[in-house]
Amino acid sequence: MEFSGKTAIVTGAASGIGLGIATALAEAGANVVMADIQKDAVEHAAHRLSGTNKPASRCALRRPRPVLRSASARSRKRRFGKLHIACNNAGVPMHGTRLVDVSAADWAFVIGVNVWGVIHGIRHFVPAILKHGEAGHIVNTASVAATQNRRGTNQGPYSMSKYAVLSLSEALEHELEGTNVGVTALCPGPIATNIALGSRNRPDHLGGPQVRPTDEAVLGERLARTGIDPKLVGERVLDAIRNGTFYAFVSAVPADVIRARHRRIEAALETRWTTSY
Ligand SMILES: NC(=O)c1ccc[n+]([C@@H]2O[C@H](COP(=O)([O-])OP(=O)(O)OC[C@H]3O[C@@H](n4cnc5c(N)ncnc54)[C@H](O)[C@@H]3O)[C@@H](O)[C@H]2O)c1
Repeated sequence: MEFSGKTAIVTGAASGIGLGIATALAEAGANVVMADIQKDAVEHAAHRLSGTNKPASRCALRRPRPVLRSASARSRKRRFGKLHIACNNAGVPMHGTRLVDVSAADWAFVIGVNVWGVIHGIRHFVPAILKHGEAGHIVNTASVAATQNRRGTNQGPYSMSKYAVLSLSEALEHELEGTNVGVTALCPGPIATNIALGSRNRPDHLGGPQVRPTDEAVLGERLARTGIDPKLVGERVLDAIRNGTFYAFVSAVPADVIRARHRRIEAALETRWTTSY
């Protein structure tokens, strides 16, 4: 796909991977609608990006549902033209607590942003892209955590949410077969972003912003030490869109763990209890 003159929306675009994707798209000539819950940060980011060869536009709203409503409304079309690319990227972490101790509010927060965010994106953006008949693409940010549960980090709720993103992406790919709209499940390993501070925007009805200094410091330090520049993730996304790549891994991946998981599933299929269909 040629990016020049195309319109893209990126959620979670004020920081990290979303900003990396928005930057790469804008530098490739796309008009980018930047959506984020952090109003000032996304305005600042959009202002900085407007120096690239195609101006980036912003959509700075406080809550995810208005973000998506606005993005799919007539006003977006008037301001930004036909939508071609949607990157459902906004997400928050959830780690450091055993499943039995995770509160209902924590579950609601991680599922609300990481799973419902992608569901809203599919519901609103896919029809908008299909409507005009031109080529399009959906990128859902999953994670390497969508393919295995990392031992020792107690990030079961986060991993579960990313398995859901991968499953949604696979189902969407099936449903879009025969159209000119592609799907990518972006599966980054460690990326140097602000995700460790992901609870900073937690809504009041789920307990408000929360700071867990130890957990955040551990994750933040690990990502700063091992994570790659989010701009490279933006380049990975462009490559995936151009080549129609579904599983877009980037950065370090626990390949042996993923293979071992798949081998375990394969072995479990070979029993007297199963038949094929
Ligand atoms: N950093 C990593 O190592 C890593 C690895 C794999 C996957 N991911 C995924 O990448 C995505 C982006 O995370 P990041 O690492 O860039 O973190 P980040 O915190 O740097 O950026 C996330 C952005 O999403 C925004 N956001 C949060 N909730 C929102 C909501 N409800 N509506 C709109 N915007 C919202 C935040 O304000 C922030 O700007 C997430 O889905 C995350 O799970 C990150």
